[in-house]
Amino acid sequence: MLLSLLYMARPWPLLFAGESRVEKAVQAVPASAADLVNPYESGMEAAMAGKKLYLRHCSRCHGREGQGIRDAVDLHSPALQNSPPGVLFWLLKNGNLKGGMPAWSRLPDPQLWEVVTYLKQLGKSRDSSQELAVEK
Ligand code: HEC
Repeated sequence: MLLSLLYMARPWPLLFAGESRVEKAVQAVPASAADLVNPYESGMEAAMAGKKLYLRHCSRCHGREGQGIRDAVDLHSPALQNSPPGVLFWLLKNGNLKGGMPAWSRLPDPQLWEVVTYLKQLGKSRDSSQELAVEK
């Protein structure tokens, strides 16, 4: 009974590939990362630039739609989507080498923020038909 209640309260590890790994990674981010401010907020232009970067650098592991391939996690994950943009920024910049996620510190900060803006957009657009139209 108690177990089934717990199960009902946390259904997403079954729905999102690698959710428990993402949760762990998010918890390991220093609290100060949450204070980093995304200079683009949710600007469409930045999100489209971020999508191009995403397709170039990330989609081979995370899939064109961010769904995750093999070990790479689903980027629609609630743990990521509910985290402040600064936490995503920190995760990209530092990577997770043990888990197989490269660090992206060689991308300049403005480009990393564009990718973060795109990832946040991805979370919003899963249930709607509103897709970012962008040419490769
Ligand atoms: C070589 C394959 C690979 C590439 C390329 C890659 N990732 Fe990942 N990524 C992974 C794997 C594997 C994980 C799961 C790591 C873990 O938590 O165990 C991951 C995890 C993540 C996470 C969740 C944090 C974490 O550590 O779990 C985010 C956010 C993420 N990737 C975003 C990106 C973005 C954005 C790019 C492109 C700039 C990218 N990744 C490129 C393999 C990759």
